[in-house]
Amino acid sequence: MEGERQSRHGQWSSRWAFILAASGAAVGLGNIWKFPYIAGENGGGAFVLVYLVCIILLGIPIMTAEIMIGRHGRQNPANSMKSVAEDSGRSQHWFWVGALAIASSFIILSYYGVIAGWALDYVFQALLGHFNQATPQHIDKLFEALVSNPWKLIFWDSLIMGGTISVVVFGVEKGLERSVRFMFPAMLAILLIIVIYSIDTGYFGHGLAFLFHPNFKALTPNSILIALGHAFFTLSLATGSIMMYGAYVPRDTSVPQAALAIAAADTAIALLAGLAIFPIVFANGLQPGAGPGLIFKTLPIAFGHMPYGQFIGVLFFLMLVFAAFTSAISLLEPTVAWLIEQKNLTRGQASMLGGGAMWLLGLGTVFSFNIGANWTLFGLNFFELMDYLTANIMLPLGGLLVAIFTAWRLNKQISRAEFNPQSSVLYKLWHFALAYISPLMIVIVFLNAIGVIKL
Ligand code: PHE
Repeated sequence: MEGERQSRHGQWSSRWAFILAASGAAVGLGNIWKFPYIAGENGGGAFVLVYLVCIILLGIPIMTAEIMIGRHGRQNPANSMKSVAEDSGRSQHWFWVGALAIASSFIILSYYGVIAGWALDYVFQALLGHFNQATPQHIDKLFEALVSNPWKLIFWDSLIMGGTISVVVFGVEKGLERSVRFMFPAMLAILLIIVIYSIDTGYFGHGLAFLFHPNFKALTPNSILIALGHAFFTLSLATGSIMMYGAYVPRDTSVPQAALAIAAADTAIALLAGLAIFPIVFANGLQPGAGPGLIFKTLPIAFGHMPYGQFIGVLFFLMLVFAAFTSAISLLEPTVAWLIEQKNLTRGQASMLGGGAMWLLGLGTVFSFNIGANWTLFGLNFFELMDYLTANIMLPLGGLLVAIFTAWRLNKQISRAEFNPQSSVLYKLWHFALAYISPLMIVIVFLNAIGVIKL
């Protein structure tokens, strides 16, 4: 092989900077908003167990594969796939797997920014004391007043997207790395403060039992599929985010160890989020099964009635904004790198064009909650359609193709060289998971999602 490729976008200042940035990409709305309520709805401990199995058997192997491909290709996900395929003597059409990933990140950020905007709005609502002593009906009204007003949603989404663009403009080290270095520790510190506060409610045991007591009766085949799909989304796989961040990884980094660290951080934070939220919910006599409304409707009721609730409420939604923001920048970067490499734009032009286009697509999501609530296709409004298309179709398909490519098409010399420490036992285990276990698991989820089989 000729000399090693260099990324023209620079690289992380150290392996720890990479682990931090990738953990920031992984930890997001999925951990703090989604995980607690789906765990709650699907049998708590039993669901958590299945989720952990999915992270280990599917998440970590595919994440390892993505980082490897990124580090070997050193370009945007589409070009990296193409280069690595060519280096392995395979078709350059593998390019399309990377292109699919970039398309997924493009669509996801268009709606992710809108939801992150809700969290930003809630920071101010909490700050202004709007939840203080509020009744559940009043909190419902506050939420409705937000989502029914397209101008408000556009305003907050524009702030999130504008912020995301202004970080990505500064590039890998001065933009992405610098913002994550501040936001990730801040997010974690706030989370720990809220967990301590939750312990102090006297209902921590209830929270623990709810999250970890395995109730296998509540575990349906469908909840297994939810665990699988969520493992994918929460680790930011098949969206180009991880592959892109992999392109900036220094040589001296152990890829499997990094993947393990990122997955562990992501899982720990999801569990901590559950342990922060449920005791507060129980201490206030509220129901944990509110589904998606758990954070935006149930929790504010609790904040309105607890000692220091106003302060904790501000902190909580600020934490959500930080978590979402470090994911948002990882969703913009693949499109920006693609525009720079393919269209020869400057980073400034690429960030504004890419981010602007996502913002425009995001208007569809904005209108799904108000004037466009009735514009539906297959019974789904625009937001639901984008969410379904990415989470249930594009991500599983992308992940499947990455697993197949890495296990069956990638030159073994390349994968062995990228897999360090070069333990052959670990390598064989990884290869086996990628060759057989992950594809099988994904095919089952995928067929179920598109309704071909019904588990
Ligand atoms: N993993 C992020 C979360 O849990 C979402 C995300 C998906 C971010 C894909 C980047 C890429 O919220």
